[in-house]
Amino acid sequence: MIILGIESSCDETAASIIQDGTIILSSTIASQVDVHHKYGGVVPELASRMHIEAITTVVDKAIKKAGIEISDIDGVAATRGPGLIGALLVGFSFAKSFAFARHLPFAGVNHLEAHIYSLFLMDEKPDFPFIALVVSGGHTNIYYVTSYNNLELMGQTRDDAAGEAFDKVAKMLGLGYPGGHIIESLAKTNTSDTIKFPRTMLEKDSFDFSFSGLKSSVGRYIHDNSTGSKDEKAQIAASFQEAVIDVLSQKLINAALYKNCDSIGVSGGVSANKTFVGKLMEKAKAKKIKLFSPSVELCGDNAAMIAARGYTMIQQGSLCDLDHDVFSRSKIE
Ligand code: KG4
Ligand code: ZN
Repeated sequence: MIILGIESSCDETAASIIQDGTIILSSTIASQVDVHHKYGGVVPELASRMHIEAITTVVDKAIKKAGIEISDIDGVAATRGPGLIGALLVGFSFAKSFAFARHLPFAGVNHLEAHIYSLFLMDEKPDFPFIALVVSGGHTNIYYVTSYNNLELMGQTRDDAAGEAFDKVAKMLGLGYPGGHIIESLAKTNTSDTIKFPRTMLEKDSFDFSFSGLKSSVGRYIHDNSTGSKDEKAQIAASFQEAVIDVLSQKLINAALYKNCDSIGVSGGVSANKTFVGKLMEKAKAKKIKLFSPSVELCGDNAAMIAARGYTMIQQGSLCDLDHDVFSRSKIE
């Protein structure tokens, strides 16, 4: 079964062709980062317009790269939410029209579920049940995953998402947008001692997160001490990253121990951070917990994960009608 997947929830227009739910025949992405870069974050109206400009070319490329004909496509899936409404509407409406014109089944995919599905696109897949952390620019959610369709939200951020904190700290340090990979690279050049920034763990047994205290603490440190030197920026970046990694890892392992699970999975843009995944792997190993993470192309937003989730929805007959709409916030947030 060949599925066309489309993703347009934020600042990436992506299309992918996958076969039988797990074989990626193509995955194309048109990133808008260069446009949003100068504004220090995503400008929703610009994002919608750029999706409109890119969508046809991106889908066309995905079909050509996969080496298939349009007539080979058996089903269509697109991100339904959560995300920016104007941006979502472009991919969702395009996919809906495509499916309608070709009489194909159409699935509207939850972006957060799809990030978890990126784990099933790897050779080594987690067995159920497992604990999943979706950690991106918009979410820091911990789920107890018992089957393809059952996710129990155990915790989420009460303020900034982890990726958002990376982006805001990068902005404070004058490093540009998006900040995650810039902070990670700069942190690697740090040779001085770390600065002890706070690790907010919240109430005992809570799996929620809060990163706004850490962000403010970094802001105060920059205001009070900063000389603006590259070395000092590296020290701040490394210390901030260390604090985020500590909290994410600790909560994730606590959640696995609480649910008696021996597998955890991380996905979403921040899971592209090798320092994070490396440290989490060490901590998990010490507790005999197995860690699963996607390859770097599947960490951030992509359409292969949308097609993978769409495949199971189409198989189960969980389809969208023509009058179904997109949503900005999800019930599983
Ligand atoms: O999943 P994603 O592409 O889009 C959302 O659904 O939000 O995640 C984007 C986020 C951004 O906040 C970006 O700074 C962060 O992922 N990110 C990273 C790294 N690469 C991307 N954060 C930390 N370290 C990285 N290497
Ligand atoms: Zn995402």
